[in-house]
Amino acid sequence: MLCKSILSAAVLASSAFARPASQLPADGFPNPDAKQLSAISGEADGTLPNGPPPPTLNASSIPIFQLINFNENFEVAFFNSLIHNITTGVSGFQIPFDQEKKALLSVLRTVLAQEELHSINAAGVISHFGGVVPAPCVYKFPTTDVIGAISLAETFTSLVLGTLQDASEGLSINGDHGPVRAVGSVIGQEGEQTGYFRSLLNARPSEKPFLTTSLAEFAFSALQDFIVSCPFDIASTIPIPIHPTIAVLNDSSVAVKNESLTFTADLTNVSAAQPFYGNAGAVDMGLFMTYFTGQDAPLSMPVTNASWTGNVLTFTAAFPYHEYVMDGLTIGALTTSGNLSSPAAVGAATLAAPALINLANHIV
Ligand SMILES: *[C@@H]1O[C@H](CO)[C@@H](O)[C@H](O)[C@H]1NC(C)=O
Ligand SMILES: *[C@@H]1O[C@H](CO)[C@@H](O)[C@H](O)[C@H]1NC(C)=O
Ligand SMILES: *[C@@H]1O[C@H](CO)[C@@H](O)[C@H](O)[C@H]1NC(C)=O
Ligand SMILES: *[C@@H]1O[C@H](CO)[C@@H](O)[C@H](O)[C@H]1NC(C)=O
Ligand SMILES: *[C@@H]1O[C@H](CO)[C@@H](O)[C@H](O)[C@H]1NC(C)=O
Ligand SMILES: *[C@@H]1O[C@H](CO)[C@@H](O)[C@H](O)[C@H]1NC(C)=O
Ligand SMILES: *[C@@H]1O[C@H](CO)[C@@H](O)[C@H](O)[C@H]1NC(C)=O
Repeated sequence: MLCKSILSAAVLASSAFARPASQLPADGFPNPDAKQLSAISGEADGTLPNGPPPPTLNASSIPIFQLINFNENFEVAFFNSLIHNITTGVSGFQIPFDQEKKALLSVLRTVLAQEELHSINAAGVISHFGGVVPAPCVYKFPTTDVIGAISLAETFTSLVLGTLQDASEGLSINGDHGPVRAVGSVIGQEGEQTGYFRSLLNARPSEKPFLTTSLAEFAFSALQDFIVSCPFDIASTIPIPIHPTIAVLNDSSVAVKNESLTFTADLTNVSAAQPFYGNAGAVDMGLFMTYFTGQDAPLSMPVTNASWTGNVLTFTAAFPYHEYVMDGLTIGALTTSGNLSSPAAVGAATLAAPALINLANHIV
């Protein structure tokens, strides 16, 4: 029997954030000297790409590498915190079996070092072409136990896998074929990580035949929820739109069975949402929940049962799980159109995003 469950939408919506004491690994990251870099490479089971950079880079491609770097810096802090918690036996992170603990820590240390090299590589591209490298920020993590943390890691890595598709397409549109090969190598690398995380969660390692796509602005928006503060002004340094994120409410595994979900988003600072403020209850209010699942065309469902608390919109939308076989990650956006033909068109019509709905088919 297949058991559907939400891997981590609930954790992402949690407000029980706490800020760990030390966030960056003590190995020279993000600016290791040659000796430190060699130690990180040893832990990562490989080196940075050592070929020359591409001769030119379109200025439009700089934000692509800024987002990759910004995301990897968060991942470095997250995995460093997780390793610290497991190593020191923080409550919720105690693993009683010594061999299991050693094995998990060994994998996570390698993942951490690999994420450090992803970050350093993106920073190298940005600085080589005169862009501003985003320094690591101070982060907050919503997770308080090892399963929750692995679930969250699985979800944000899946989101990254979709976002790197957008990065590859963006580089191609910008005429920058040079870095596409390296980005492709990272897509596979991060997919190996999710396969391992999914196995730990008793889900099948390979998520979908075609992994769910995403947009740079959706990953960038989701990351904002983990930021306490950054040593630079985010909006003026990285020119990618930021949307309010959407929380998935209630026991979603029940809702999924019923094929509808309840969502909420704070649209306070969204000027395009102003015409909709207070427009409650209507079934044809002109708003849609638009899903990315796999490589399917954007799938739009009308917003129903809307209610407002101030500028916070709560609403229901169908989640046609069976018809579209929506296992794994589905990414939702609140949009002003229900007829969107491409991911880019979804971004242009978005009021809030992403909603992250991550369903696991557990191994029986
Ligand atoms: C590490 O433990 C602290 C304290 O419980 C917690 O706040 C933090 O979220 C944990 N880190 C991760 C990555 O789960
Ligand atoms: C740079 O990227 C922009 C935006 O995609 C594109 O319009 C322009 O043609 C690109 N320039 C070159 C030289 O390819
Ligand atoms: C969903 O959750 C909200 C707040 O957490 C609660 O007020 C509401 O009653 C729940 N709705 C259902 C249908 O369970
Ligand atoms: C499914 O939704 C209906 C209302 O549409 C509700 O009566 C029923 O309790 C729900 N099923 C479960 C398992 O919660
Ligand atoms: C709206 O913008 C103001 C000013 O930048 C900010 O203080 C506030 O937190 C924002 N509110 C939301 C819900 O984003
Ligand atoms: C509509 O929302 C109300 C509360 O806001 C809830 O009690 C009711 O079950 C919802 N109906 C549907 C069809 O989701
Ligand atoms: C959907 O958009 C396409 C163009 O993108 C247009 O040809 C078509 O008529 C639209 N369909 C509806 C139902 O609005």
